[in-house]
Amino acid sequence: MSKNISKLSGRKGLQDNLFDKMKQVHRDIGEVASQYLVGKSTILGSQQFYDFLGQEHLTQKAWVCNGTSCLCSGNQAKVKADLEASLGAGAVGAMTCLGRCYDADSFQFDGNNYSGGQSADIASLNEEKAGSPGYRISCDSKSAALTSQNFVTTEQFAAALKDLLDQSRVDVLDVIKGSGLRGRGGAGFPVGTKWDSCMRSEADKRYIVCNGDEGDPGAFSDRYLMEQQPLRVIFGLIVAGWITGAKEGVVYIRGEYPESVTVMGEVIRQLYEQGLLGSNILDKGIDFDLHVLAGAGAYICGEETSLIASIEGRRPEVDVRPPFPSEEGLYKQPTVVNNVETLASVQSILEMGAEAYASLGRGRSTGTKLVSLDAGFSKPGLVEVEMGVSLQHLIDEVAGGFRVPTKAIHIGGPLGGVVPISKVDGLDIDFESFTDAGFLLGHASFVCIPESFPMVRYIQHLFEFVRHESCGKCFPCRLGSVRGDEMFSRAITGEKSINRELLDDLLDTMEQGSLCALGGGLTLPVRNTLQYLQMNYRNILIGTCQFQRGNCRE
Ligand SMILES: Cc1cc2nc3c(=O)[nH]c(=O)nc-3n(C[C@H](O)[C@H](O)[C@H](O)COP(=O)(O)O)c2cc1C
Ligand code: SF4
Repeated sequence: MSKNISKLSGRKGLQDNLFDKMKQVHRDIGEVASQYLVGKSTILGSQQFYDFLGQEHLTQKAWVCNGTSCLCSGNQAKVKADLEASLGAGAVGAMTCLGRCYDADSFQFDGNNYSGGQSADIASLNEEKAGSPGYRISCDSKSAALTSQNFVTTEQFAAALKDLLDQSRVDVLDVIKGSGLRGRGGAGFPVGTKWDSCMRSEADKRYIVCNGDEGDPGAFSDRYLMEQQPLRVIFGLIVAGWITGAKEGVVYIRGEYPESVTVMGEVIRQLYEQGLLGSNILDKGIDFDLHVLAGAGAYICGEETSLIASIEGRRPEVDVRPPFPSEEGLYKQPTVVNNVETLASVQSILEMGAEAYASLGRGRSTGTKLVSLDAGFSKPGLVEVEMGVSLQHLIDEVAGGFRVPTKAIHIGGPLGGVVPISKVDGLDIDFESFTDAGFLLGHASFVCIPESFPMVRYIQHLFEFVRHESCGKCFPCRLGSVRGDEMFSRAITGEKSINRELLDDLLDTMEQGSLCALGGGLTLPVRNTLQYLQMNYRNILIGTCQFQRGNCRE
């Protein structure tokens, strides 16, 4: 079924994209359905998946960020009250993470994002206030800055592209492989291997998808790259396209980042004007078309198979792999899906060479990584560090320590590990150091959990997040997240203590039975918390089952 739908919607492809059409909710669904040769129910089923296309959203005027950093800052209720005082009750909804975690107290209003106490006076807000990055960008690497180094002029871009296109594709692929670059989107898959696989797959057409969905609350490094270093990101896309033989690409940007959508769209337009995108780039006989698509409020669309479904206008449920996208991806054609930061790393690698890049970092984690530090640190912002740097150094020297007494740092998004302060010493910023210790570096977002913040509430927030964002394809995640949310919510109200044996069963089921890392990965922060942190709240302790395993009635 999905194969047929892909083929049919594929007739329109990226140029006249079905997902973009679906977002125009005022349109006659029947007309869109017949234009794309799909059933009305297919359109409706997809539309209803997205937060931004729901009736409630359409009647609201402002949205308070309900991401984890904003939760921990403790001011969400105040931000909402401020906005309601100006806009009226019912006009204020919620959105998950607006990528202003360095500031917290974030909200979206009138197509722009704001943060840090700006809710009190929305009449004075304007694009200029929204536009300023408002965060510190620094570099703490023995090399010069790489991804955070400015690469902002089209002259630089054209010169780098010319250098590139004078070389052989195979040689450049070897440089990427030799650099040891691994995906920055969370899983750390070797980039050269993925590109090689796509290049070798039999097909008439191939695609490059830049994953700019950056859904992890706490992360804002991709937002920085898309807004401040768009040429660096686009350069990586063109290199990926040229090497793999893909002539078309798409940047899928989180709908919660309106500024990123505008900047990327504008820069792409300018590159077309200057002959640096499109047909016969720099008269080298190379074609590459690039499109921008804005998401519509669904975290799961960051997962690569869901992302592909979303671009095609299908309901963005996760697909079983294999086949992997590099063999059968967008419109069933070989597709490279890479994270924004991964693609942004390519220019520095080609400039400095594989060996020099690989000499940075440690072991299999080479190069540098952008780290997002939230408002819980004394010096929040974005920092580029060399892989392998110690976590203690990062916290003490770079981030300036914590603003308030802090018991743990949630690193790597909602599915990343909760690192208690006692475990910071001994951890380094590299993929293996984190996984070996039972945590996850992921996309390297850092959210501070204050000493005063109850962990029962924190875990309930994570279950609630997964409950809301689950694509619903598999029951361990679809139902498990609801049960977990209920368990922790009842503990908070005092209705019922949490039965530890049931909780362990739930975690085992979600971990082993979930199709993707949304349901499966949630168990990591919960288990870390159970292992290292106190979980009592209003004297409600996590209880132990009085029944034999399998006979629990609670
Ligand atoms: C639930 C879930 C959400 C994800 N969200 C993102 C995301 O927002 N951005 C991203 O780049 N990768 C995300 N990923 C990882 C992608 O599936 C994919 O591995 C990645 O985009 C590949 O790019 P990379 O190899 O350059 O890291 C997510 C994965 C899962 C399971
Ligand atoms: S784990 Fe959750 S998000 Fe992933 S496929 Fe299953 S239901 Fe969908």
